[in-house]
Amino acid sequence: MAARRRNADGGDPIYRRRNLTRRSVLAGAAALAIPGSTGPSRAARQTVPFGSAIQAEIMDADAAYRQAFLDHCDLVMPMNALKFDLLRPTRETWNFEPADKVVDFALSHGKTTRGTCHVWWGATPDWVTMLDSEADVERALVEHIEQVCDRYRGRLVGWDVVNEVIANDPFYDGQSLRDTFWLRKLGPRHIPIAFEATARADPEARLVINEYDLEYRGPHFEERRVIMLSIVRQLQDANIRVDAVGLQAHLYMDREIDADALLRFSRELDASGVKLIVTELDIIDWQSPADPEAQDAAALEKVSTFLDAIFAWKPPEAVITWGMTDRYSWINDVMPRPDGNESRPLPLDRSFRPKPWLDLIKRRLASA
Ligand code: XIL
Repeated sequence: MAARRRNADGGDPIYRRRNLTRRSVLAGAAALAIPGSTGPSRAARQTVPFGSAIQAEIMDADAAYRQAFLDHCDLVMPMNALKFDLLRPTRETWNFEPADKVVDFALSHGKTTRGTCHVWWGATPDWVTMLDSEADVERALVEHIEQVCDRYRGRLVGWDVVNEVIANDPFYDGQSLRDTFWLRKLGPRHIPIAFEATARADPEARLVINEYDLEYRGPHFEERRVIMLSIVRQLQDANIRVDAVGLQAHLYMDREIDADALLRFSRELDASGVKLIVTELDIIDWQSPADPEAQDAAALEKVSTFLDAIFAWKPPEAVITWGMTDRYSWINDVMPRPDGNESRPLPLDRSFRPKPWLDLIKRRLASA
């Protein structure tokens, strides 16, 4: 109650005092406002769903893998199959089959599902990068969103509309947005273009702006949070709907979660009607002990601190892990342990045995 009263008084003024949420990250976005583009949001759920991202290419080959998602998840989403380059590798080729497989799998087993993502620097197909004019690029993006949303409308609860649009290190290099093909071709307005197209094409879907490195203490991470708040504010100022900020939550064991900052961040977003959703939770355990039990104990503490921080203001829309089992994780490929020991990033180990932090998440979500 006390916390709510503080919010009614205007919330923590830190961002406003510094006048940072007004920073013009999306210069020119207001020109894109279309009256009535703010559609109705889906009704809030009663309990917070637990979900995970599944790799379509592994589903057929590994029955235990498939079963893990059925046993533990309320929501099962495609990890990669709805990314632009996989859906449409050439202008002439659409490849809906893997995404269809995941969506059908989820829905036929009574799960919900959601999409990631229309715009991501890591998934722009070559044929798009070879388009010449700004108008052609904009048309390709909008058409892509329309066709994909048309196919899945009514079946996905929401979309990560844009993913990782904030510069990796804005604090040091002074750039707010990541230098991507989309930014170079369309400027910052690629963000409102994508949100507006998604809102139009799937008015019921929850629209999410998804991002990493918003969770930790330090000026680098504070800067990223400030930029996220300004993007959200500028979309809203342009009458463009954004329903939630996605915290990827790839949790580095060697970084400190900033609970105070996350509380301020959630309150600030909540005051604008925007929720949080945890979209890609896993553990990056470079620095944790090699002993699996000690590794899992350290991960439990990290996840617990993170959940406390996230739930401090209001429960998130969902908590989603980036896979279920250590057997298959991007961490093994991209960020392996320097000591050569096995990484344990996910809630089930390689033999599909649950770790203590899976139980913790489930208990936390059940009592939200
Ligand atoms: C990764 C997947 O896990 C890999 O399978 C794929 O090869 C590349 O993409 N942040 C994101 C995710 O937003 O989309 C990335 O997923 C991991 C980092």
